Amino acid sequence: MARKDTYIAPSLLASDFLKTGAEIDMVNKSEADWIHLDVMDGRFVPNISFGLPVIDAVRRVSNKPMDVHLMIEEPGKYAKDFKEAGANHLTVHIEACPNLHRNLQQIRDLGMKTGIAVNPHTPIADLVEIIQDADIVNLMSVNPGFGGQSFIPHTLHKIKTLRQLIDSRGLHTLIEIDGGVNSENAVEILLAGADVLVAGSEIFKAENPFEKIHHLKHILD
Ligand code: DX5
Ligand code: ZN
Repeated sequence: MARKDTYIAPSLLASDFLKTGAEIDMVNKSEADWIHLDVMDGRFVPNISFGLPVIDAVRRVSNKPMDVHLMIEEPGKYAKDFKEAGANHLTVHIEACPNLHRNLQQIRDLGMKTGIAVNPHTPIADLVEIIQDADIVNLMSVNPGFGGQSFIPHTLHKIKTLRQLIDSRGLHTLIEIDGGVNSENAVEILLAGADVLVAGSEIFKAENPFEKIHHLKHILD
């Protein structure tokens, strides 16, 4: 069986915000597939990152699809604003959305790909009745809120369970792994069934981020 593609999504959160233009230029020229943008509200997660004006600015220089990860409460209130700021994928947290189906419909109606993010303690079983409406599932492999944390090994079981669910239903939902991804654990994450590696610190704190992206992209070759 031909191996499926590995998608790489550098997370801008770990970049040097004084050099954002240059960092995005590097991502543009690299083999990265998407650029991952972490929005935090200080309520859903205990941290505040950046919001609409920054995403709007990134859009003007980035040539990669913008994969926007909303770690915010009431994401439906802002979906249209993120679309206008240039988001291509909009991911909301299952734990923040009592009316998740409505949120995903709204995202799709606005013309974006739909993403569901899942915290480490949330079972894959919670996705059973909604997975068909998601283009992407972001399995958090750390507790959301901060870059630079360690990968939670139990995530590997969750990846396998989710892979089975997606394959058994004949869906094309992408499994994205977010948090603590590095060159040491990327192979087992991909072999467990993941499609997309989000990597912040591993890429932006590397001596050569451009090369690191290439390395991760081809790590199973
Ligand atoms: C965590 C964010 C991640 C983070 C990943 O709340 O959702 O996207 O930027 O950073 P690293 O790769 O450093 O764990
Ligand atoms: Zn993220």
